[in-house]
Amino acid sequence: MHILKSQQFDKNTLRYIMSEAKALEDPKQRPSLAGKIMATVFYEPSTRTRFSFEAAMHGLGGSVISTESAAEFSSAAKGEILEDTIRVISDYSDLIVLRHSVEGSAVRAAKVSSVPIINAGDGAGQHPTQAIIDLYTILKEFGLVSGLTIAFVGDVSKSRTIHSLVYLLSKYDIAHLYFVSPEFISLKPELIRYLQANRISSSPCRNIKDIVEHVDVWYSTRLQKERIVEDSSFDKYLAFQKVAHKYRIDAEIAEMMKPDAIIMHPLPRRGELALDVDTNPRARYFEQAANGVAIRMALILKALDQ
Ligand code: NCD
Repeated sequence: MHILKSQQFDKNTLRYIMSEAKALEDPKQRPSLAGKIMATVFYEPSTRTRFSFEAAMHGLGGSVISTESAAEFSSAAKGEILEDTIRVISDYSDLIVLRHSVEGSAVRAAKVSSVPIINAGDGAGQHPTQAIIDLYTILKEFGLVSGLTIAFVGDVSKSRTIHSLVYLLSKYDIAHLYFVSPEFISLKPELIRYLQANRISSSPCRNIKDIVEHVDVWYSTRLQKERIVEDSSFDKYLAFQKVAHKYRIDAEIAEMMKPDAIIMHPLPRRGELALDVDTNPRARYFEQAANGVAIRMALILKALDQ
């Protein structure tokens, strides 16, 4: 089974993956993937995603073949198209984890691959495995998603982790979604239409302080500077610098939040999430990153129909 976007998962499958992940946290509960090979093909930088996928495969006893920077070290540097690269690597492996800078790349790869493709981020598109990790982190904390108010802060326009998590949360009976960003960095129209079609209560917000007492889950993200440059709208980046303080979470703002609120971030962080938040009891972003290994073990097994 390919894992390409959040919309492909129903609630039962999500429940199954998360309960498998819980079990897989115990090394004795892990089935063996000895003899299976996972290829990690990353055309964009990564720390957590690639390492946690590889740690997950090693944890299951499988093997990993990898390129640290496919854009630089694979034949892409010689001009090879993605389809040819994937077709060939799919003959060398049982599963391919792909990260690419262009939206839609995972779907393109799936069309030519003879083995399952896992989308580990396609440009400003989606990052479905991260979204399941995020959902797992929320569920571990609150035990449910129903009734929660969630605020996405930062680059709601181009953050693929936000896009994927919004699609997942839309499946649950959440109270409200806030999208906290300047007007010139707003949610993409297809996602707004999706929220409307699914009657999800949501609204934009221009300042963290306006909603600071109402939110259960804060999901901060960095400005996707590389994608704004790609868009040749560098002015947005400069404009953002002027208002960035409204979208920055520091210890002072964190203290104003509900006592049982949690602060998440897919990482890497820049200035939007201050280092002084790390010691605040609401900080959960390192637990969130740690949850990546168990969820990715469960997803590798699911992709391989094991
Ligand atoms: C994110 C990504 O690559 O989309 N990181 C991650 O996978 N945890 C977030 C980002 O790059 O801003």
